[in-house]
Amino acid sequence: MRLSQVDEALDAATARLLEAEERTRAAAYRLTDDRLRFQVGVAVTRLALAAEMDCRADEIRLDRTCPDCGRPHGKVRVAGPRPGWEVSVSHSGDLIGVAVGTIAPLGLDVEQIRAVEAAVAPLVLTPSEERQVRTAADFIRFWTRKEAVVKATEDGLRQPLNLITVTAPTEPPRLLAWTERDPITAGIQLHDLADRNGHLASLAVLSPDEVTITEHDAQPLLRA
Ligand SMILES: CC(C)(COP(=O)(O)OP(=O)(O)OC[C@H]1O[C@@H](n2cnc3c(N)ncnc32)[C@H](O)[C@@H]1OP(=O)(O)O)[C@@H](O)C(=O)NCCC(=O)NCCS
Repeated sequence: MRLSQVDEALDAATARLLEAEERTRAAAYRLTDDRLRFQVGVAVTRLALAAEMDCRADEIRLDRTCPDCGRPHGKVRVAGPRPGWEVSVSHSGDLIGVAVGTIAPLGLDVEQIRAVEAAVAPLVLTPSEERQVRTAADFIRFWTRKEAVVKATEDGLRQPLNLITVTAPTEPPRLLAWTERDPITAGIQLHDLADRNGHLASLAVLSPDEVTITEHDAQPLLRA
C-alpha cells in the first residue's frame, strides 16, 4: 500500500479500524505521514487477517507488548480470534507492507532506495559485503534481507546487522551466516519481494519448509 494513495476518506476509514491503545499511539505521532504509516499498517493488518480468517476486521485482536518494557510497540502478535497466524509490518518512505501467514514467524522489511551516510555502511555490512556494494539499491537490498531476518526472530536492531552475512544483491536471497547464532541459519529462508516505486522489500520465514508467497495490493481491501 502506498502512502500517496491515502486521501481524507481513507484516513478516516483506517482510523476507525484502530483500537483504543492504537489510537493513543497514532495520536502521539508528531508528523502526519508517520501517523498514517502506522494507522494504515494497523488497518491493512486487520483487514488482511479478517479476509484470511473469514471474520470481521474488528474481531481481530493484535498484541504488540514489548517483551523488554511491556509497552505496546513490539512485534505484532495475533491474539485472536483464531490461533496460528503470524504477521510482520514494515513501512518506509511511501510504502507500507504487511505480511500474514500461518507457516512460521515472519519478518518483513521495506526500505525506500536512498543513499545513506557512509558511516552507516559498516554498521550494516560485513567488510566483504561492503566491497560488493556498487549502488544505493545494492546497499538497501543487503539491508532489507538482514532486517527481515532480525524482525522474524524478533531481535530487531538489538542484533547488529553486521554480524549477519547474506548473499549479494545479484544472487538469490539466502542467509549465509550469523555470528554466534550460526546453527539457526539453516532454519531461516529469505525472499525478495517485487520492487515497488523506488522501494525494496524482503521477507524472512523462520522455517526450512517450502512456502508459497503471493503479493497483493492492499488498496482493494481498504476500499471495500
Ligand atoms: C523492529 C525494528 C527493527 C523496526 O525498524 P524500522 O525499520 O524502523 O521499522 P519497520 O517499519 O521496518 O518496522 C516497524 C514494525 O516492526 C514491528 N516491530 C516492532 N518491534 C519489533 C521486533 N522486536 N521484532 C520484529 N518486529 C518488530 C512493529 O510491527 C512495527 O510496526 P508499527 O511501528 O507500525 O507498530 C526496530 O524498531 C527495532 O529494532 N525495535 C526493537 C529494538 C528495541 O530496542 N527494543 C526495546 C525497546 S524497549
